Amino acid sequence: MTDTAPAPAAELRLAGWARASGTSALQTMLSVGTRPGTISFALGLPAPEFFPAEEYGRAAAAVLAEDPRALQYSPPCAPLQAHVAALMAQRGVACAPEQVFLTTGAQQGISLLARLLLEPGGEIITDTLCYTGFQQAVEPFAPRILTVPTDLDTGMDVDAVEALLAGGARPAFIYTVPDGHNPLAVSMSAEKRVRLVEIARRYGVPVVEDDPYGFLAYDGAPAHPLRALEREWVFYVGSFSKVLAPALRLGWIIVPQELVRLLAIGKEASDINTATLAQRGAARFFDGGHLPAHLAMLRREYRLRRDTMLAALAEHFPAGTLWRKPSAGVFIWVELPEGTDAGEVLRVAIEQEGVVFVPGHAFAADGSRTASHCMRLNFSHSTPDVIEEGIARLGRALRSLAA
Ligand SMILES: Cc1ncc(COP(=O)(O)O)c(C=O)c1O
Repeated sequence: MTDTAPAPAAELRLAGWARASGTSALQTMLSVGTRPGTISFALGLPAPEFFPAEEYGRAAAAVLAEDPRALQYSPPCAPLQAHVAALMAQRGVACAPEQVFLTTGAQQGISLLARLLLEPGGEIITDTLCYTGFQQAVEPFAPRILTVPTDLDTGMDVDAVEALLAGGARPAFIYTVPDGHNPLAVSMSAEKRVRLVEIARRYGVPVVEDDPYGFLAYDGAPAHPLRALEREWVFYVGSFSKVLAPALRLGWIIVPQELVRLLAIGKEASDINTATLAQRGAARFFDGGHLPAHLAMLRREYRLRRDTMLAALAEHFPAGTLWRKPSAGVFIWVELPEGTDAGEVLRVAIEQEGVVFVPGHAFAADGSRTASHCMRLNFSHSTPDVIEEGIARLGRALRSLAA
């Protein structure tokens, strides 16, 4: 045996985006929020007590019993594509079943579209405050993110979008969540929808319409998505996570037919195919005609939770706090009095009250402290009793900070 010193450990070289990446606020919240006794308003989780576990279990068991290839690799499940096309028709969207590209959740839909459209270092236009999962999906491309403000009553500032384009910006796409915006909870006005698709057409820039919440509309019929107004320049991303169950990991994209082939190549590289059993089980569940009643129940129950949270905010939050009643989705966006540091509120809320939420600046696509006095609160996951208790605790945290 020779007595040589061990070679110095080689240092692992990570990709640029990984070296620059911080912690994920959402991952942190997931672990903090599940501590016993903690009330979490942090994540956009659906309520587990509303998962159609029995009916879905029966549907999945039946497809397995009939054909073991439910556990095989598979091409897209044609009956599920047909069900999605029918569902979209109810929202005013005309598309052939073959245009429904099934994905492993909306998150994969966003990633695949980024891979399809975005060159490294390319430009994107989006709301200044936007879904963090979108920011993570585009991060490896090191894009230049051009941000526009969002009006809390009418949605994305489409004049600002047009000004960027008129000024020479040539983004790979515009990304937004027109219904039940995450995190701002606003749904885009009808006028702005018309203007945004008109701008997309005129400048030849696609809009990636991310719509996991459009089916959860509480005050009247769900709105028509942007895709109902424009077929060529709007790429629609849908999801069954909030209306069925996120663990099925089922979503879809609706794109012009000629892009399906390219998306299929990207998907193959990503995960080969969406889980066959999940696709077939969902198709069988829809065959049973369960969805309309299930959606009606979700809308009723989540409306109750939304209204419970609004009433509790009015009772427990200090004067000078602002919020709006969201017409869709699972969040309420709260603006605390200017100068309040929502990060500090979160610290006190966790330490003294066992409540978590996400502070507004966690969503800033430009990495700024924009909205550091704001908080995003989820109302779908907690029961009405827990919502009342949690908002009362947050009110106490705010008073204790003010004192
Ligand atoms: C705006 C938005 N897009 C996409 C997703 C991801 O959805 P999925 O579970 O279908 O991947 C979420 C999840 O919360 C979301 O809020």
